[in-house]
Amino acid sequence: MKKIAIIGAGRVGESTAQFLATRDISREVVLTDIREGAAKGAALDIQESASLFGFDTRLTGSSDNKIIEGADIIIVTAGIPRKPGMTRADVMETNIHVLDNILDDVLKYAPDSMLLLVSNPVDTLTYHAIKRTGWDRNRVMGQAGVLDSSRMAAFGALETGLSAKYINAMVMGGHGDAMVPMTRFTTISGISIEHFLSAEKIEEIIQRTRTGGAEILALKGNSSAFDAPAAAIAEMVEAIAYNRQSVLPTVAYLQGEYGQEDITIGVPAVLGERGMEKIIELELNDTELNFFNKSVSSTREELITLSKITSKI
Ligand code: LAC
Repeated sequence: MKKIAIIGAGRVGESTAQFLATRDISREVVLTDIREGAAKGAALDIQESASLFGFDTRLTGSSDNKIIEGADIIIVTAGIPRKPGMTRADVMETNIHVLDNILDDVLKYAPDSMLLLVSNPVDTLTYHAIKRTGWDRNRVMGQAGVLDSSRMAAFGALETGLSAKYINAMVMGGHGDAMVPMTRFTTISGISIEHFLSAEKIEEIIQRTRTGGAEILALKGNSSAFDAPAAAIAEMVEAIAYNRQSVLPTVAYLQGEYGQEDITIGVPAVLGERGMEKIIELELNDTELNFFNKSVSSTREELITLSKITSKI
């Protein structure tokens, strides 16, 4: 990959730039922010670690989105974060306006790129980006499930005392309290998590995963999580850059999969050089389907709010 653009040089954007550079995925990483100094400063700070990490990625920052020109993928982290007590949906109106300005520039400067949405509410912002750009669904996706699954895996490692490296968790659904951590598809070296933990412990992990973002926000007070979110973004971008054909939970636009149409929500998908190349449709049992459908309903409520916002624009 030649060029990766990150829009928004806040904490998530900056950590993402750092992880991408450290993995040496692309020749260039550009960071933009309405606060020019923040973008330039973050780029330079990371650049100055190049000899220590041994990467050759060149980083540039600007307040002018023109620098995204020719980017292969554009990661959108701009927008206001939640404050303690707020839901992800509470920041929707502001972040939709922020996204609209960004999409104008994306269409102008990088019409052949891919978009990875990260700002919240991510399911709804991904939907809006698909509709506004008119691009095929393989080119527009969102990050949520890789983070949520990584949280679930971390809690599984803490609870069992076993290596996190071999824990593979799967969280589907929207990136909200109704997200669906999937016990049946969570394994340690291929062995079901149920072999290692009691039903009560697994339920505790599921609840902690659902409120994982809020837990960090409450602890930090003045910031949402940024390290694990940025690592999750880097994982998705690497899958695309190296055409790994990785199966990762992705906020994707459904066209009949899981019995749903015209909605963006987290499902397992294959990520490769063409972006979100394929949705993996799992046979869910009644309980799983019930949880998934609940999450679909809450995302659909967000989409109704979105349509009220966009009808005012
Ligand atoms: C989280 C926020 C960023 O889950 O959505 O931490």
